[in-house]
Formats: sequence, structure tokens, C-alpha cells
Amino acid sequence: FKSDMGVRGREREPPAFAFAFDIDGVLLHVAKPIPGAPEVLKFLNDYNIPFILLTNGGGKHETERVKDLSERLGVPLSTDNFVQSHTPFRDLVEGPGSLRDKTVLVTGSDYEKCRAIFKEYGFKNVITPADIYAADPTIFPFQPPHTFTTPPQPLPKPLYNETTATSPPSADTHLKVDAMFVLNDPRDWALDIQIITDLLLSHAGFPGTYSPLNNTDSNGGGGGGWQQDNQPPLYFSNADLLWSANYPLPRFGQGAFQAALAGLWARVTGGGGELRRTSIGKPYGETYRFAERVLGDHRQGVLKAMGGHQHQHQQGVVGSPPLGRVYMVGDNPESDIAGANGHVSEQGTEWVSVLVKTGVWSESRGGRLEGGLKPKVVVDDVMAAVKWALRKEG
Ligand code: G3P
Ligand code: MG
Repeated sequence: FKSDMGVRGREREPPAFAFAFDIDGVLLHVAKPIPGAPEVLKFLNDYNIPFILLTNGGGKHETERVKDLSERLGVPLSTDNFVQSHTPFRDLVEGPGSLRDKTVLVTGSDYEKCRAIFKEYGFKNVITPADIYAADPTIFPFQPPHTFTTPPQPLPKPLYNETTATSPPSADTHLKVDAMFVLNDPRDWALDIQIITDLLLSHAGFPGTYSPLNNTDSNGGGGGGWQQDNQPPLYFSNADLLWSANYPLPRFGQGAFQAALAGLWARVTGGGGELRRTSIGKPYGETYRFAERVLGDHRQGVLKAMGGHQHQHQQGVVGSPPLGRVYMVGDNPESDIAGANGHVSEQGTEWVSVLVKTGVWSESRGGRLEGGLKPKVVVDDVMAAVKWALRKEG
């Protein structure tokens, strides 16, 4: 494998290129390494060629996921070279519009893991759909949605309930949700969609209220009008309609949940309201800019360890030699390829999109690769991708 790579010895000067690897469909099928993936990562590690893992996956804290990935792929990884879908949400704790002390609702595959992630990011008041359900089970008139892995937590304030509240809610006396986040693929779509829709229809984020600005009729039919009434913003950590798991055909991802919610929202608002949402993750520029910063910092560490991090830039500053190219190796044209092709680097780094055949895209299913979805090259798998890139680098 090493001879194929055309790599001189360890002493090679700091590479002017690096890699960004998608995970699902490139390195792993869920928990199973894709053939060649461990060898490739070990090789890059041995030869000090920097790389990051850039995934739309999530639902576990970075430290937990990185430990799991290191064990599965047999390569030392750290949070320094790992970006998952919701990692950039950490930035919402600080700065203007900080949500640190606001009440945020989180959902995903495991409510308590999502809460723990956001608590670790620095959000102080984090609630889940299970907390709201436990506070008033009538909010969801079906069987309990699922055996909650750990008991829900009491809400910081009581739920507003028109039959009992004597005056319009105030944030001092009743629960007010200030923002909603989907961190990874939800499991309880019915409960989550009910509660998220309640909040999108609410007055200012008070569950149990109904904004007078939403003039849908009683059966959610042709009201047609919907105006923002300080409802809590809705954030998604990725828009993947499909992703590559162990089943031979792609599976629904968080983008499918978004589509289900958006379809219900159109119905409930009588078509009057576009589902207002913010989605990050690949292919969005925010995630690629965040990833490039993470890769740049990680690369400095790698080059420093090599002793090759001193470089006189044109501006006269001393730092790492410029990063010329990042080879983005992905399996999903809609996220990995489109994102790399569309990324405009703040440092003038060229992102080269490489599509593998081990994931979402396949020739047999005829996924069209046109426009922004057209990769620089299509190769069989991650090992072929790295060999192709190294040959290009000479
Ligand atoms: O939930 C994981 C899925 O959305 C795709 O993950 O690693 O292929 O970006 P990945
Ligand atoms: Mg993938």
C-alpha cells in the first residue's frame, strides 16, 4: 500500500495538501469499517499528512464519538481533527444573541445524550420533548412515545395551560422555549413534530398557547396566513435526505425528518407558511468554513510535530506553509460533493471533491452528477481516493 502511495520517507517536507473524510459511506457503514479505511488513516497518520473527519452524523458528544471512531478505525483521533454536524452550534453560546442562558429544546436519537452535549457546550437551560411530555402527557395523546432511556427532568417553569392559567403567560411564570435544535436523526418523529409544531404555532414560544397571528382554521386547513410571532427559531444540524448505513440502499436521514415536518407545516398553515428553519452541516458554507478552520489548526499541530511549521509568508508573517488543497472524500453528492465544490476558502485553499462508490451514490441508481454535484473524480473507495490524490500531488 505504501509503495503504491509514491511517498518518499517520513522526512518529506510538510505537505501542502490535506484530506477531509466524510464518515458514513466512506469510512464506516454505521459501526463497520469499510475495507481499506483503517489502512488509509494509519498511512496518513504515519506520514504526517493532515486530515479531518467531517460528518453530518451526530448525537454523541465529540469526545465520546472520537473515542468510538478511534477504536473502530484503529487510528488515534482527537476532537482537533473531528467535526460533526452540530459541532458549530457550540458558537451560539457566546457572542451577540448568545443562547447560553436561554431555554433551548433539543432532540435527536437520544434525548439525554442531546441534553448532555448542549450542557457541555455551555447552554444552561436545556429541555427535551420528554421533559415536556412528562410535565403534561395530554400534550401527546398516544401511548408514551418510547421508554425514555433515563427519566425526563422537571421543567424549569410550569407549562402554560389555558384551562388553568389566569393570565397570559409570562416568562417569569411559565415555560418559554427560546430556540429549538435537532442534533441528529430523531427517533420519536411523532412526539418531536407535535411539540416543534406546537412551538412554531405558539405565541412567543410558550407551549400551550396559540398565536392569534396563525389564522389556520380548526382542522388546520386553508387558513393561508401565518406570521412570525416571536416563535423560537428552529435549527437543524444537517439536511441529509439519505445516508449510507448497513442496508444496501440509502436510508432516510435528518433531511427526511425536515421534509415530514415541512409537509405537516404546510398542511397546518394551509400552505401559508414556509417552514422557517436554519440548517447547517454539509453542504452549507458555514460548516465548510468551520471545518477549514479546524483543519488549519490541526495541521499546524501536525507540522509543528514534524518541525516543519516555520514558513515565511508573503505578508512577512511566520507560520505553517500555506495549505494548497484539501481533498474532500465523500459518498453523497448532495452534501459532500456540493459542499466542497461550492466552498470559497478564506485562505485561498482549493477543495477538491472526490466521490466514492461505497455509499449513497451509485452508478446503478443513476444519481446524476451535474453542476455542483459533479465531483472532480469518481473512484471506487477511500483507498482509491487517497491514491488518486497522492499521485496528483506527485
Ligand atoms: O446521520 C448521519 C448521516 O446524516 C450522514 O453522515 O458521515 O455521511 O456525513 P455522513
Ligand atoms: Mg456519507
